[in-house]
Parts: sequence; structure tokens; C-alpha cells
Amino acid sequence: MHEIISHDLVIFGAGLAGIRAAIEAAREAKGDIDIAVVTKNQMMRAHSVAAEGGTAAVMRMDKGDSYELHAWDTVKGSDFLADQDVVDRFVRIIPDEILQLDHWGIPWTRLDDGKIAQRPFGGHSYPRAVLAADKTGFFELQTLYDTLTKYEHVTHYNEFFITAIIVEGGEFRGLTAINMTTGKFVFIRAKGLIIASGGGGTLFGFTTYSQTVTGDGMALAYRAGLPLEDMEFLQFHPTGLVPSGILMTEACRGEGGYLLNNKGERFMEQYAPEKKELAPRDMVSRSEIMEIEKGNGFKGPNGLDYIHLDLRHLGADKINDRLPLIREVCLEYNDIDPIHEPIPCRPVAHYSMGGVETDIDGATRIPGIWVAGEAACVSLHGANRLGSNSTAECLVWGKITGALAAQYCKKVSTLPAFSEQTFIKEQQRVLDLLRNSNGTENLYQLRRELRTCMDMNMGVFRNKDGMEEALKIVRELQVRYKNIQVQDKALAYNTNLIHALELQNLLDLAEVTVTGGLVRTESRGAHARRDFAVRDDENWLKHTLAFYSAKGPELSYKPVNITTWKPVERKY
Ligand code: FUM
Repeated sequence: MHEIISHDLVIFGAGLAGIRAAIEAAREAKGDIDIAVVTKNQMMRAHSVAAEGGTAAVMRMDKGDSYELHAWDTVKGSDFLADQDVVDRFVRIIPDEILQLDHWGIPWTRLDDGKIAQRPFGGHSYPRAVLAADKTGFFELQTLYDTLTKYEHVTHYNEFFITAIIVEGGEFRGLTAINMTTGKFVFIRAKGLIIASGGGGTLFGFTTYSQTVTGDGMALAYRAGLPLEDMEFLQFHPTGLVPSGILMTEACRGEGGYLLNNKGERFMEQYAPEKKELAPRDMVSRSEIMEIEKGNGFKGPNGLDYIHLDLRHLGADKINDRLPLIREVCLEYNDIDPIHEPIPCRPVAHYSMGGVETDIDGATRIPGIWVAGEAACVSLHGANRLGSNSTAECLVWGKITGALAAQYCKKVSTLPAFSEQTFIKEQQRVLDLLRNSNGTENLYQLRRELRTCMDMNMGVFRNKDGMEEALKIVRELQVRYKNIQVQDKALAYNTNLIHALELQNLLDLAEVTVTGGLVRTESRGAHARRDFAVRDDENWLKHTLAFYSAKGPELSYKPVNITTWKPVERKY
């Protein structure tokens, strides 16, 4: 009825962070450990391929960029919630990662003199986003995946859905998974685990994320006893294509695009006189909503009122050279050509600054478990991430965690004790969900209601009433979830069952996000409250930690590591 497999190190997720971790672990171990990469998708189908605009790195110290400047931009962008030791480490490592990818064959966009090109991005005071046209994530992942195939002792498990991280007495024991192609249950024993399963952006209906991004790693870590950190900070990207939500990369503005209201005005001149369209995302998104609320937007379908992203003045050559994907998507999805027409856009759920709490090395409180990429909260982004710092984070902490996990697995001589009963209990839970979920609730309806609730109440602006309403709805949905129907009783390729498991993960994350937001009575970065409109450093310059309990998240707080820059007012 089940299969038991064993590996030294398991990597949960096959996006940029996961694959970079796998390469580094393989390099570090030199064949002495065997590594598994487990994904519910196929390789090269991770959401990382959807990253468009670039990866931030200091490449031109000769032209005035510096580590200090990148660090300062990141800390100021974070609204001073980033841990500054983490930021300092990050900015010093990422340039080598850019060169490493170059050596592995990535087709970075080049300048005429052959140097690696960089473009401006929001909140950065130097044009430091390294790019591969507007398909940067795709080329990064392809390069990493190609590189990984050179290593032996790496096993790929495609279409394996992880259902639990097994921890007993504070010790990591392994994972449980469903082999989606057969429906067979699998116990995965391992010495070490790197969670690199991405964010939870499909908590929202209007989102840039693919439907596969359901916060599985975050939710499973939370239920296994690891705290989630700073989950109330969710990023809304200023330019989601209306009505699909597809990302219209910030590179559109980096290359010189304008944001216009219905009077044809570049409204960002009022909100961020210096940086204008290239202010950080939290500010640009708020400015767009304020314009729309003033009546300066355009009427969109289903309440998706919008502003215009105008690229026309860039000309056909620049658009075709630097933004080919944007043009293709606009033509395919909206039947508009950005060479001749403005693009309808509005703020869209894009990124989770929060995640599983880690230290500066990506290590968690449980020995043997690391987290990298969006699933982690290493505290690099604080309350608001700068664009192009996330693919960079994936590379940096993919590398760091891969090396450390490999060293750990080499040192630990045997697999952890195997308590079969615990694994069997989890198998039983999933089988019960499959066989005995014959209730009256349609799980897809619950998922829709969850997303509507988050869109309505946890968007760019929040307030107490909205968040209380959201918490009430989420808790009702959790109760109704117990009465869902899993109609498909088959084992093989049972996406109905997978969606039920994913929904449970999303509901847990929603509860943590809303609870953290409700309690944080200030506005900081992406957490903008109408009822507490200013930042409150005296009371809230601290990270939120949410621990799982059967009654709901239990919150506690920890200080921000401030090494260099004291908080000041953010002006752009
Ligand atoms: O706009 C973009 O291309 C997104 C980049 C990012 O989220 O870092």
C-alpha cells in the first residue's frame, strides 16, 4: 500500500532556490550523499519561470554602484524591517551568482561592448537588474536545470505531492508524499530537508502566480512546528494585466514606460516626485489605488478598475528587443499591441515577504531543516521587497542552504529513527480525506470564497473591520472544509484530492496572514492600514512569529537586526 524510499537530502521544490540548492549540495558532497528533488509539477514548470524583469546585483562598481548602495536601497525599501546583517551578506554574494550563471551558459542580455546589461528597477538607486530580455526567470531556471543534469546522485521525483513534514520530539524524520501518477503513498526518509517550494500567492484571485503556487511548504512547516514570520506583509505588484493578472514586468517602467491616469497624467509625479514610476512597489501600488479612488482610473470588469501602462514612446525596436514577452502576452490575452496602445493594469498579488522563519543561513529551529527562496523568511525583504531582489535571494540562499545541508548530511552517519506509526497515521489522514470526504461543500466554491475574501479585505489597503471580516470568513471556511466532497475516488492523477490538500494549506496561511495583519496596528511597507496610517517604530519595529496551535496561530515577536541604518522617513 505504500513505498518507503530513502535519501540523504531531500529538496522540496524545483524552482530557482531548489535547483540552485541541489547543484550546490551536489558540488559540496562530491558524490558522498544522494539527493532527491521532489516537485508536484514537472521540472521546468516551477513558477520561477514566470519571473520576468531581472536579478539585482552590484556589477558596476567602476560606474558608481556599491554593496552599501544596494544594501541601503533594500533596507529603505523594506521600510526598515529587513535584518541588516542578512542584507549585507546578500549584496556581497549575488554578483558572483550572476557570473556563475554566466559561466553555466545563461544568455544574459549584453551591451554593445559585450558587458552584462542591467536595467533600472523600482526603489534601486542604480540600474542593477541583470536581465535576459523579459524572460529572466525562464533562462535562469533552464540554465540551472541543465547544470544539475551533469551531476550524479540526484534523483528527480516529478509529480510527487508532499503531504507532511514528519517531526517527532523536535527531530526531523522525513516526509510523506503521494506519487500523483499512481496515487501510491510514499514515505521519504532523509537526514536533511531544504524547503524551497515558493510562496502562497493563490490565496488571492487577482494574482500573478500560477495556480500551482499554494504555499504547501510554508503550511506544512507551520504544522510541523516551525513558526511563520512576517506573513502579514504581502506584495502587490503595481502592474498586473487586467483582467488576467499576468505580470507586466516592472522592467516596462525600468525601460522608460509611464503610468497614466484617465486624464493622461503621469500621476506618480505627485506621489514620488523623484523616482516617479520607479518608486518601490508598495508606494506605486498605493498611488494607483488612490488615483482610481479619486475617479482618475478606467472602469474595468468585475471591479478591476485600472490605470494605463504606456510604452508607446519607447518605440517598436526597444519593445521588441527588451520586452518581447510583454508584447506577446498583450497580443495573445488582450488583443492589444503595446507599440500602439496603452496596457490596462492595476495592483496584483505578487509576493510573500513572509515565510518560514530562518536564521541568516536559511536554517530553521529544527536541526536538519533549511528553507530557501520565497518559502523562507530570512528577513531580507522586511515589509516590502524591491523588485529583482527575489530571484537574487533564490540564488544566494539556494547556494548557502545547499552547501550547509550537504555538509550536515555528510556528517550525520545514519538516517533518523523511523517511526512507521507516525507515517502510517499521516497516510490514514490522506486516505480518509480521499474516501470519506462525502460532504456537501464544493471545495472549489470554498477556494473561490477564500480568494474573494482575501481580494476584498487583505489588499493594498486594509483596516480593522475588513480584517476582522476576513478572519471570520477564513474560520468559517475552515469549518466548512471539514464537510467537503472529494468526488474523485480514484488513486491515479487525482487532482481533486490534491486540490483539497492545497486548499487546507491555503486556509492555514490565510489565517496566519490575517491574524498578523489585524494585530499589527501600524502601516509599514506593504501592510497599509487606513485606520493606523503611519509607521510606529516604537511599538512595531519587530518581526511577527506565528506558531501553529489547534486553536489558531499563536503570535510572538522578535527584534529586527539593525546594524547600520536607523529608521528614517522613506521619501522617493
Ligand atoms: O516585475 C518584475 O519583473 C518582477 C520582478 C520581481 O518580482 O522581482
